[in-house]
This record gives sequence, structure tokens and C-alpha cells, in this order.
Amino acid sequence: MADLLVEDVAVDLDGTPVLRGVDLHVPSGSLLALLGPSGCGKTTLLRVIAGFLDPHRGRVALAGNDLVGAAGAVPIEKRRIGIVPQEGALFPHLDVAANIGFGLGRRSRGRHERVAELLDLVGMAPFADRMPAELSGGQQQRVALARALAPGPDLVLLDEPFSALDAGLRAELREDVRRVLHAAGATAVLVTHDQAEALSIAELVAVMDGGRIRQCAAPVELYRTPVDVAVAGFVGEAVVLAARQDRGTVTTALGRHPVHGRGPVDERVGRGPVGGPEGGVRGHVVLRPEQVHLLPNGQGVPAEVLTSWFYGHDALVELRLVGDPETRLLARCSGDLPAPGPIGVRVAGPVLFQPQEG
Ligand SMILES: Nc1ncnc2c1ncn2[C@@H]1O[C@H](COP(=O)(O)OP(=O)(O)OP(=O)(O)O)[C@@H](O)[C@H]1O
Ligand SMILES: [Mg+2]
Repeated sequence: MADLLVEDVAVDLDGTPVLRGVDLHVPSGSLLALLGPSGCGKTTLLRVIAGFLDPHRGRVALAGNDLVGAAGAVPIEKRRIGIVPQEGALFPHLDVAANIGFGLGRRSRGRHERVAELLDLVGMAPFADRMPAELSGGQQQRVALARALAPGPDLVLLDEPFSALDAGLRAELREDVRRVLHAAGATAVLVTHDQAEALSIAELVAVMDGGRIRQCAAPVELYRTPVDVAVAGFVGEAVVLAARQDRGTVTTALGRHPVHGRGPVDERVGRGPVGGPEGGVRGHVVLRPEQVHLLPNGQGVPAEVLTSWFYGHDALVELRLVGDPETRLLARCSGDLPAPGPIGVRVAGPVLFQPQEG
């Protein structure tokens, strides 16, 4: 298998820039999740990589060979890329085995064995003779994955392959897809809207917005040290508080906090506006609800419980600060739900500081 390199890829559609200089590197054998809001350009990027669309500029290389670049474009069928679309991708008049074998050529040697191997890999051996219309949505997506993998592609592209499925089936199939891709040693790009899916399934997550990659990092790094407030809000629940940074400490209505010591955000510190009589740099901090710890009333910073949402494994609690009623916080709590009313809060661990623009 092979690593994927995308360099400065730009696409205009109907005169509107849709991709504005996309850079991406997916190491050989790893799974990258491409996460971003509707319309940000995810499918367009996959179409460029697959060869359905030529970019206006930029380079795409697979295993060190240019697919698109200065020397022109390699045709789709020579790219060795497998594609798993959203849904409805199977040939309705072919049974499961014939769908999986479609890309192998009718008379190719070893075809039967290869189809049997893939049927096993995706757990569909008992269904080899079924027609697509006789399968559940999850079974159909397993067959679509097997079909994409059958010719032994260098790269697999999956465009929201679980979006038509209900939550339970999604989680199950997600795990199967990860296992199957790893077993096949495939390099893969998986498009998703779902941040929990992206963080849980992939080695790398790229957050895309407005035709650009805003950040690409390992899931833990992305969650803990997002480059800005927008990315933070896109990968999980974020608490955003007005803050001031002065000589390495950040102060909010919840006290003083250590700052995450890395990332492009830190390079901008010191160049933001210098604010008010207190001095220092004004901006915002971003932290996660699990960093907001609840204390008995009378300890920590006084707050008031407004609402809570119980999710089974944990709960989210919405709070308002007594000294600053405009400031709302979310806390994640795993014990008993606090009753609405007075409580104390404390922030644990480092926060992300973003200086105010301008
Ligand atoms: N053929 C086209 N002509 C003009 N604009 C297009 C065309 N195809 C897509 N677009 C625009 O390009 C932008 C990106 O579309 P794209 O399909 O890549 O988004 P996406 O991130 O895959 O969204 P979704 O999550 O909804 O699938 C959108 O604003 C869309 O309206
Ligand atoms: Mg799309």
C-alpha cells in the first residue's frame, strides 16, 4: 500500500472557489477521517483524488507517483483507488459475489478465491448469492467495501459510508470497517460529518472548512490542542470564556489557568490587542466540559446549575457563574446529577488561549 500526498489543490466550480489550496498527507496504511460541515468541499476533494475532477492547480501523488501534477493527470481506471460511496452503490442486478468480483475481470485467475476471501473479511460469506435488494443497509455497505478492496487498491476513499444507517448499526459497522481496512493494509480517507466517528475510527483527523484544511492531527492532539475556537467547537463540546493573557498566565472568570504549550495559536500570542487598564492580551480560552469540576456549594467559584442532560455513561450540566451571569459553562459529570441551584466549580488542567483578532 501507499501514502497519499495532496499539495495546494485548488478547484473552482461555476466561478466559485470550492477548494482553496488543500494540503494533506496520509501515511501508508493509515486511515484519515475528513471532517467538516456540509458544503465545505469534502466530496470535491475526494473527486479530485479519485480523478473525476481536475483541479485548477496543485498536485496529488500516490506511492510517490503523480496522479495529478505538472505532467498532467492519470486516468481514473489507472489510479488503483477503491471507492465506497454513501449508499446505493451496488449493482442491483448482480448478486453479492458478482458485485464484489466486478472489478476483477470475468475470467481473471484467482477471481473465485479472491471473492471468497473478501466475503469472509467483511463477514458476508453466508450472503454470497443474495441480491442487493435483499440486504440490510449495513450489509450493503459491507459489500460495497469488499468490492472496493477486491482489486487490491493502493487507496480507498469512503464518502460518508454510514450516513444512511441508524446509530447502533453505524457504531458496529464503523468498527468492522476499521478492522477490515487494517487487515487489508489499506491507506484510506473517510469522509464524515460525525466528530465522534472521526475521533474514534481514524489515526488522523483533518478538519475542513471553507475549502481549506484547518487542522490535521491525531485525534487526541486535535481534541486537546485545536488550533482555534472554530476547530475546537467542531471536535466535541467546547467551553469558550473571555480571557486575558499576561506573562504566560491566562485569567478568566474562573481564575488563572496554565496554557497548552504548543500549536500555531501560541505563536500569535503577544500580537493581539493590548486591552484596557489591566494590560495583557485579550482573547478567549477554550476548554472541555470534562475540565470543569463540580464542587459542593461554598467551594471554588460560585455558580448555579441551570439544566442537565443525562446520557447514561455521563451527563452534561449547564451552569451560570454567580459573579458573571452572562458566562455559561458546560460540565461533564459521571456521578449523581446535581440539582438545579447553587454549586461551586473549578477548572482542572491547561486551557487553549486564542488572542482576539484585529
Ligand atoms: N458541480 C458543481 N457546480 C457548482 N458548485 C458545486 C458543484 N458541486 C459542488 N458544488 C459546491 O461546492 C461546495 C462543496 O461541495 P461538496 O459536495 O464538496 O461539499 P461536502 O463537504 O461534500 O458537503 P456534504 O457534507 O453536504 O456532502 C458546495 O458549496 C457546493 O454547492
Ligand atoms: Mg459530500
